Parts: sequence; structure tokens; C-alpha cells
Amino acid sequence: MTEPIYLVAGARPNFIKLAPLVWVLRSRRDVPFQIVHTGQHYDHVMSQTFFEVLNIPEPDINLEVGSGTQSLQTSRILERFDGLLGEKSPSAVVVFGDVNSTLACSLAAAKRQIPVVHVEAGLRSFDRSMPEEINRLVTDALSDLLLVSENSGLLHLQQEGIPDKKVRLVGNIMIDSLVRMQPKALERQTALRLGVEPGQYALLTLHRPSNVDDPLTLSRLLVLFADLSQKIPLVFPVHPRTKKQIESLGYTPPVDFRLAEPVDYLDSLCLQKQSKLVLTDSGGIQEETSCLGIPCLTLRQNTERPVTVELGTSTIVGNDESLIRETFERVLDGQYKHGKPIPLWDGHTAERVADSLRDLLQGI
Ligand code: UD1
Repeated sequence: MTEPIYLVAGARPNFIKLAPLVWVLRSRRDVPFQIVHTGQHYDHVMSQTFFEVLNIPEPDINLEVGSGTQSLQTSRILERFDGLLGEKSPSAVVVFGDVNSTLACSLAAAKRQIPVVHVEAGLRSFDRSMPEEINRLVTDALSDLLLVSENSGLLHLQQEGIPDKKVRLVGNIMIDSLVRMQPKALERQTALRLGVEPGQYALLTLHRPSNVDDPLTLSRLLVLFADLSQKIPLVFPVHPRTKKQIESLGYTPPVDFRLAEPVDYLDSLCLQKQSKLVLTDSGGIQEETSCLGIPCLTLRQNTERPVTVELGTSTIVGNDESLIRETFERVLDGQYKHGKPIPLWDGHTAERVADSLRDLLQGI
């Protein structure tokens, strides 16, 4: 009998990518699997709530690694996952996205010559100051099957000399979750609960080290956002990393700059869909807003997801105050671009991933 494959997830965006594959594999039964949670994210609201609303079964294994510096966290996952692989022999290890768990588990599996499958391969920001870029480069170099979400990924992998036969364009698995959960999400009264009218607020998310770790950068951004909130209320569910930084600044926001606890997946979709615009440094939210048709000001210097700018609704604004103000005004004046559909972001990516996994297992 074929040993199960391991589906590895560790951080919030991983869970949204894992869910559609679990739904499909549960119904097909041709690819046995187990879920491994590394424990990179561990707060109830960062982890458990995602399993609940996305109807993902409890992980079969939890490595409970918790937080640490980039390298400490990565090495702890590496050590614990390697220990697991020493006892069990999964047929393959599937990793998602670009978080530290993705890198650590692909490395542990490759060292034990267990095939590695990377879902969301080939994305590149060409900015190695981002931990995620290092994670992407290493994971792709180690992977045996590279499943790509947008055309730019195919080009990057070709340029890096990855053989074509290892690569498949499957589309964006995160959008499967969006397509399935959107109706349920829109039943939520999230905006009203957070004290704003649907359609009459902007949504902000911020957690990248480049925006939140330097007190001066963060203070400047907070002053700017407080000012923008006078034009339209700003709702800001605050990531734990950002919360710590804001607390250490001793910052008190004005009344229409509404700081909130992190929200679950359904509330996040609901808040995005009902907003006038979104300001974010999240990769996943650039993708979700593009599909939802909501203007997205991307608070980064670059993106590894260029299709969200070329076809989607995103504009790169960095942390450039005048560019943020100008683009913000353009949206409020109704002068902002409209997005177009993105090829293969159709809600059926998980089926293509499952087909690829079946083919891989048949070839082993
Ligand atoms: C990680 C990913 C990032 C992703 C983000 C989504 C990496 C390198 N980064 O960043 O790509 O966009 O997840 O959220 O993997 N913390 C808690 N509770 C938790 C989790 C984290 O309090 O459940 C705090 C801890 O202080 C921790 C900090 O947040 O040190 C950062 O967490 P970490 O997992 O290291 O990175 P993220 O910033 O969440």
C-alpha cells in the first residue's frame, strides 16, 4: 500500500492553501494523505479558527515549534520534521507558499530523499531582504514537482534552469478557498461589528518586517493612515507582530482609525469585499482583492505576484507617502483601474494539484 503523503502547513496563509487540497483529496481517495502542522502560528485566532471555518480536520501531527528568530524558528522546524521523517516514510511532502515552514520541511525531506512538491512555486520578488524570497528560492531548488500559480513563475523557473518536466501551471489554490467560502463570508456582518458601514471604509493590513520592525517607518505610516482615516474610516485588524511594535510606540489612534484583533478567514474576505479599497503588505490579500475586484494599494517596493498588477486590481505604492495619498484619492474619486480575470484562478486549482500528485505517486 502507498504510504500517505504529508501536507505541511505552519502559518496563516498556508491554511487557506491547504484547505482546498484536503477537500479534493478527501473526495477522490486516490492520494492518501496526512496533515502536519509545524506550529509556526499557534494563537487560536492565527491558526485554530482557520481550521474551523475552512473545515480542515485536526492535524494528524503538530510539531509545536512556536516563534523565534528566522533561523531559530527554521532550524527548530527542520529538527522536529526531520525527527518525524526518521520514524515515518511519507511518499512525498507537499509544502505551500513561502513561509519558514515551507523552507524547513522541504529541506528536511530533500535530505532524506523524499520527493518534495511545492504549491505556489516560481514566484520571485528579486528582493532577498525578504525572508520569503530566500524561502522560495531554496524550496524551488529542492523540489521535485513545482506547481505554479501564474505565468511569471514559469519564466523564473526556466531562467533558473529547472527542467520543464518538473513544472506545471495549475493556477492559484488560494482562490479555490475564496470561491467556495465567499457566499458564507458575505453573510457575516463584520464591517458593522467593527463599527463601519459596508462600502464606506478602507481596510488596512500590515505585518512585513520592512514596514513594522523599524519604529520610525512604522510611526510615519501610522501618522499617514490616521490622516487618511479622516477621508474614510480605516479598519485595521492588527497582526500580533505589528501589535507588539505599536504597543512599544505607545500609539493611540484617532477615532476613525479602528484597530482591531486579527480576524478569521471569513471575516477577512467579508471585510475585503465590502471595503472601498484595501491597503496591505500581504501577498495573499493582493491576490484576493484582484479576484474580488477591490482596489488594492500594495504597501511594498515590489511584488512576487506581478499578475495582480498587470491584470488584477493592485498598484505598488511602497511606503511613499505622496504616492499612497494620490492613489488613495484616485480610488475615492472613482478614477482607479478595473481588474480583468486571471487565467486559471478559477476555483479548480486543487483538482489540478491532486492530478499532479496522483501522477507523481504513479511514477514513484
Ligand atoms: C509569517 C510569514 C509571512 C506570512 C505571515 C502571515 C515567514 C518568514 N513569514 O510571518 O510570509 O505573510 O506569516 O501571518 O514565515 N506571533 C504570535 N502568535 C502567532 C504567530 C506569531 O504572537 O500565532 C508573533 C510572534 O511574536 C512571532 C511574530 O508574531 O515572533 C511573527 O511570527 P512569524 O511566524 O515569525 O512571522 P509572521 O510575521 O507571522
